[in-house]
Amino acid sequence: MENQMKALREEMMEAASQVRSKEDLAAFWQTYLSKGGKVSGLMKGMKTIAKEDRPAFGKLVNQLKGEVEKRYAEVREALDKAELEARNVSEQIDITMPAKMRPAGGLHPLSVTRSQMIGVFAGMGFEIYDGPEIEDDDHNFTRLNVPRNHPARDMQDTFYIAEDLVLRTHTSNGQIRVMDAQQPPIKVLSPGRVFRSDSDATHSPMFSQMEGLVVDKGITLCDLQGMLDKFCQQIFGEAARTRLRPSYFPFTEPSVEVDVSCFECGGKGCSLCKGTGWIEILGGGIVHHNVLRNCGIDPEVYSGFAFGIGIERIAMLKYGINNIGLLTQNDLRFLRQFKEA
Ligand code: DAH
Repeated sequence: MENQMKALREEMMEAASQVRSKEDLAAFWQTYLSKGGKVSGLMKGMKTIAKEDRPAFGKLVNQLKGEVEKRYAEVREALDKAELEARNVSEQIDITMPAKMRPAGGLHPLSVTRSQMIGVFAGMGFEIYDGPEIEDDDHNFTRLNVPRNHPARDMQDTFYIAEDLVLRTHTSNGQIRVMDAQQPPIKVLSPGRVFRSDSDATHSPMFSQMEGLVVDKGITLCDLQGMLDKFCQQIFGEAARTRLRPSYFPFTEPSVEVDVSCFECGGKGCSLCKGTGWIEILGGGIVHHNVLRNCGIDPEVYSGFAFGIGIERIAMLKYGINNIGLLTQNDLRFLRQFKEA
């Protein structure tokens, strides 16, 4: 029995010296120290030993067990230490190395322009309303005082997606939706995408507009111009002035087209303003009494102004972009020029 114990001690010490990993260590424990392991196996041999020798034998086995447990703990500690050292080496960071430069993206020029415009109007107290891009004929045309077969429908080449459904041709649908939901005082801005079957250097089938609507008691065209002056100064610079020209839109009466003084030449006349000193930037006017009435607002009590601005147009003017397609082609050579914007 003693020989057997001696052989087992040697075997275990040898096995312990072969342990190289956590897996080896677990196997070692399983083989020798677990309940079904070889050390417990020795204890089971107790039966074959004379009664009077059993206490001495038990003591020896326990001694052996203690020894192996100690060895096991030592090996585990050594493994932990080696693992930590390996990690320290592999995760070492040289803080003197130059940093990896990650290319930073930039905002799209259209996004920059849109947020800047929204920022100006929000600063004046406009609330933002998000109207639907798929709209019924009623909200896009009829209640805006553009009845069926009215020649004004030809002003906008419309994408019909069903008999009575269109891709909205302007953000003016927002006016109807806001006035349906709310009584004056109203002061909303409705930015969004609009769609027209039209395509050339300055027109795209999809573009974006920003609709403004203010309805209250005593609103006049002067309020519109005063507000637009402030808007243009913030977008085009302090020197910017506006001018109203008579125009026609079915939903406003009177209707105006608004020009801003040319920020390129200061009004002297250049190629940007085609020698006139003025650049057209938006349409607007006093909300037609029919439109107010269509939304249950009494035109004898209230009046309002409305305007619609093309966002691409403002971005193109600001950045000197001569083809609207560049704004949707995602050509990085083009977009990178606006990184700082
Ligand atoms: N909806 C017009 C367009 O898309 C722009 C416009 C003109 C909007 C006059 C208005 C307005 O609110 O009063 O051409």
